Amino acid sequence: MPKAARVTGWGKYLPSRVVTNHELEDTLDTTDEWIRTRTGIKERRLAASHETTSSMATMAASQALASAGMEPQDLDLVLVATCTPEHLLPASASVVQNALGARRAAAFDLNAACSGFVYALATAYQFIAAGNFENILVVGSEIYSRILNWKDRSTSILFGDGAGAVLLQAQDGEPGLLSFILGSDGSRANLLYVPGPAGATEAGRNGFYLSMKGAEVFKFAVKAMCQASRKAVEAANLSLSDIELVIPHQANYRISQAAAHSLGIPLERFFSNVERYGNTSSASIPIALCEALEEGRVRPGDHLLMVGFGGGLSWGALVWKW
Ligand code: ACO
Repeated sequence: MPKAARVTGWGKYLPSRVVTNHELEDTLDTTDEWIRTRTGIKERRLAASHETTSSMATMAASQALASAGMEPQDLDLVLVATCTPEHLLPASASVVQNALGARRAAAFDLNAACSGFVYALATAYQFIAAGNFENILVVGSEIYSRILNWKDRSTSILFGDGAGAVLLQAQDGEPGLLSFILGSDGSRANLLYVPGPAGATEAGRNGFYLSMKGAEVFKFAVKAMCQASRKAVEAANLSLSDIELVIPHQANYRISQAAAHSLGIPLERFFSNVERYGNTSSASIPIALCEALEEGRVRPGDHLLMVGFGGGLSWGALVWKW
């Protein structure tokens, strides 16, 4: 009999520096009006020079542990979803494990671009269901500001930095995770990629920046979100009308609008904070989940649909009973 797991703690970290669309008008041939109407984004947060993917992950993780009243030494695993680690090795998760003092915990990173948190939550759940681990920290943390070409108006306006974390604990009773769908189409990797050596550092970039075919990624995103959502809801033996709250990857408000329309789910049930943070890649779903909880938008027994898409190309959706 597989063991059940629940989310017992959550936390987020957003760097303090706010960069508004108006500020970007000073350095780019763009306008606040263009960015708002095409993406819904009004501002984003950018990490300070001393901050890293691991340091932001540690802040969000500490908050998740504190909210659950758990000590770091009780953790069995630290899993960090990121595609902007500051080193190739050690893994960001190992840096976080050490910073937290999670002495007993295993640690590894997972890269599925913006789908990373959905992949990581589904992965972590398997360790608990199999009876291997009891307490797992699942973090999404990204520092896209260091892989963007700040002279490219078609990409630099879209992204921001930040981290979100949840604590997953084995518990008796009903499962939290009802279903998940994960997918990838590597044949279309050229639509969204970062060439060259890895490492999200100023010094390490050497001109290798994120490259994206925006309009094609937009179409892929809407289709992938809808297909993965339908499949995950069906696999949970539910219908779309049973979903109380959708927590989509926050890339572009128009993508959520199009998906809501196609799925027949009222847009009010799609959580959105893209206007304040832009696209924080694998951090966007845990940050959004954290804010939905803080705002009292998640009640016990609610069915949440978390759905991500991004580079790879990759996608993932899961249904969670809160
Ligand atoms: N300001 C002003 N004009 C701009 C800007 C800007 N910041 N960026 C592009 N433009 C111009 C273009 O040059 C183009 O001009 P042209 O017609 O003279 O050639 C015009 O605006 C239209 O450009 P499009 O790319 O067709 O604009 P579109 O409506 O598709 O919006 C956008 C672009 C916002 C990037 C959209 O395509 C999008 O959101 N795509 C999905 C992006 C996404 O979600 N990526 C992340 C995936 S997750 C991950 O893994 C990272």
